[in-house]
Amino acid sequence: MTDQQVDFDAMIEADQRIEPRDWMPEAYRKSLVRQIAQHAHSEIIGMQPEGNWITRAPSLKRKAILMAKVQDEAGHGLYLYSAAETLGVSREDLLDQLHAGKQKYSSIFNYPTLTWADVGAIGWLVDGAAITNQIPLCRCSYGPYARAMVRICKEESFHQRQGYEILYTLANGTPAQHQMAQDAVDRWWWPSLMMFGPADDESAHSAQSMAWNIKRHSNDELRQRFVDMCVPQAEILGLSLPDPDLRWNAERGHYDFGPIDWDEFWRVVKGDGPCNRQRIANRVKAHEDGRWVRDAALAYASKQRARAAQTKEHAA
Ligand code: 3HC
Repeated sequence: MTDQQVDFDAMIEADQRIEPRDWMPEAYRKSLVRQIAQHAHSEIIGMQPEGNWITRAPSLKRKAILMAKVQDEAGHGLYLYSAAETLGVSREDLLDQLHAGKQKYSSIFNYPTLTWADVGAIGWLVDGAAITNQIPLCRCSYGPYARAMVRICKEESFHQRQGYEILYTLANGTPAQHQMAQDAVDRWWWPSLMMFGPADDESAHSAQSMAWNIKRHSNDELRQRFVDMCVPQAEILGLSLPDPDLRWNAERGHYDFGPIDWDEFWRVVKGDGPCNRQRIANRVKAHEDGRWVRDAALAYASKQRARAAQTKEHAA
């Protein structure tokens, strides 16, 4: 074993942060690029389901809150692409892989947002699941990823709370509004549980990811934590969760819940979800439509650099 590997292993063992300048095994770097890129892709694709309701928000206040949230998601994507770039990959290349279907994004964003209540269900459940998964990532062994997570988690808390408040308002509104909220929770509950990834015994990366202190808890552990958090919250909302097997297990100290439809999970992950094609088509169009902005910014930046070099030359 090389001295570099010995040093790396000792840093992981001592729970120290690995920084971009540190030597790291190629497999560690590749796994981080895979996870951080897919996380970033999830953030920017995740803008679409809710963005669909910005022009149809029920009030100016709701519209302003939703715009702020969707803008936050774009920012989360940028922090994460920047973290990935510290591993020697380019944002353009990662986006090309997303557009070509060679890199994933979270399957949850392939479901449609049919009513305004979906915006509430996404905030409460999807952002709630994201927070449950992302808080341990603040302690990830790779420095730039962990630091990006700290800021992202602060903003996710606002996302979850605004979603919960939308559902609380609807659930305590007219019977039709209560039914709209219940319908949204019924559609988003199971796909939200799938956000934590396959069951532990089906997870290809968990063991190694946990050995490297990238993942701090297993998929099933975080999924259970999320279920335990949501059940009392649903009771306060006066909404039911669509799982007849959901019940408190005093022995385990957790809620038991029913089986997840892993066929649906893998079908959606593999591209056959309700909105997969639409999400990528929208994404590619937005990228093409924005090409002139990127070209103009690059042209301006290179002009600025040339001007600064000229000034430096004259001064010398
Ligand atoms: N959707 C799509 N693919 C998924 C998935 C999901 N919900 N869950 C797992 N997968 C994929 C994995 O990427 C992996 O495929 P790959 O080898 O091609 O990368 C395969 O299924 C096996 O899964 P593993 O459990 O072995 O993979 P991981 O160890 O990477 O665990 C994970 C999956 C828990 C999602 C982990 O990657 C992770 O924690 N990622 C960071 C958080 C993240 O990406 N969250 C996505 C949502 S972001 C979000 O919600 C934003 C919010 O603001 C709304």
